[in-house]
Amino acid sequence: MRQRFLVGVGTLMMVAAALVIVSRQSGAQQPTTGAPAVAAIDSSSLKGPRQPIFFRHDIHVGQKQMACQYCHYSAGVSNEPGIPSMQTCMGCHYLMVNGSTPANVVEIKKLKTAWNTRKPVEWVRVHMVARHVHFPHSVHLKGLGPQACATCHGNVARMPQVYKVNNVNNMGFCISCHLERKVSRDCTVCHY
Ligand code: HEC
Ligand code: HEC
Ligand code: HEC
Ligand code: HEC
Ligand code: HEC
Repeated sequence: MRQRFLVGVGTLMMVAAALVIVSRQSGAQQPTTGAPAVAAIDSSSLKGPRQPIFFRHDIHVGQKQMACQYCHYSAGVSNEPGIPSMQTCMGCHYLMVNGSTPANVVEIKKLKTAWNTRKPVEWVRVHMVARHVHFPHSVHLKGLGPQACATCHGNVARMPQVYKVNNVNNMGFCISCHLERKVSRDCTVCHY
């Protein structure tokens, strides 16, 4: 009972937070990001791996101006940036945002079905370094400043589907920046 109550409160708080965000946008102009017109839901012609739900950063970040860390909440404080749980999505999609184009309606329905059947979406990983490499996100955010994400991931705000801009599986990618910025290049800094 108590737990249910807490879940209810949590959901309400998310809806409240989402309302703030949505209302902040209501005055904003339409997309300036030049998102390419994507043919409905078949995203296989776009760069990057196809995802189980066609979640678009160009809409959420580019048009709706959401901050990266609204979803990748632990990027500033932990090694892992975090992939948002469905709860984060449901703050907006549970009641309010159902989609304004046929393609969006279909994709948002997939999300709701996943939520209702308690089957977390299995996002396909885009960047992943080998297990012998240590890559801490928060350290890099501190070192590289507010534009940090784009330094390595490119302009995600314009991507309908995320793809690799830099080959993070090539040691040279890490070393050249560490050299340039006078950061340690000891093998043991990056390798276990
Ligand atoms: C509304 C939530 C949301 C926001 C805001 C958001 N993301 Fe994401 N991001 C996701 C989800 C969900 C995925 C997994 C699905 C995918 O890859 O599209 C993801 C995946 C990614 C990936 C690929 C992860 C991998 O597997 O390598 C990168 C990189 C990324 N986001 C960067 C960003 C950056 C940079 C920003 C801000 C400019 C941002 N995201 C804002 C939800 C979000
Ligand atoms: C702050 C509110 C908010 C949050 C949080 C949010 N969305 Fe959205 N989402 C929107 C809005 C607004 C649209 C545009 C709807 C339209 O006009 O069609 C949208 C559109 C979508 C669409 C259809 C367009 C597209 O991206 O393909 C999908 C799918 C979607 N969201 C999935 C997600 C997922 C998955 C998450 C969590 C990782 C999430 N959303 C979090 C507000 C939000
Ligand atoms: C210095 C380069 C660099 C910067 C800066 C950076 N990333 Fe990453 N990102 C990476 C690498 C490398 C990986 C793969 C890490 C791994 O496999 O452990 C990654 C992985 C990710 C993933 C996938 C994580 C997962 O668990 O699936 C997301 C999401 C992501 N980054 C988002 C962000 C966001 C958001 C920012 C800015 C707040 C950011 N990154 C800044 C290099 C970077
Ligand atoms: C665009 C520049 C850039 C790239 C690319 C980059 N780094 Fe870094 N890295 C930094 C900076 C700057 C710091 C130092 C942050 C600080 O201490 O303020 C750092 C620090 C680190 C640290 C912590 C070092 C310590 O002394 O504690 C590790 C580990 C690390 N990087 C691993 C990696 C790996 C692995 C990659 C490639 C997958 C990578 N970095 C790519 C800029 C970069
Ligand atoms: C700044 C981070 C960083 C430092 C410092 C670093 N490496 Fe690496 N190393 C990486 C990354 C990232 C990879 C690619 C892992 C992958 O395949 O995902 C890698 C891969 C490797 C590999 C596998 C073969 C290859 O080229 O992919 C070897 C061997 C290796 N490193 C040895 C070393 C040695 C020896 C040193 C010290 C002289 C060193 N590394 C310093 C990040 C680093």
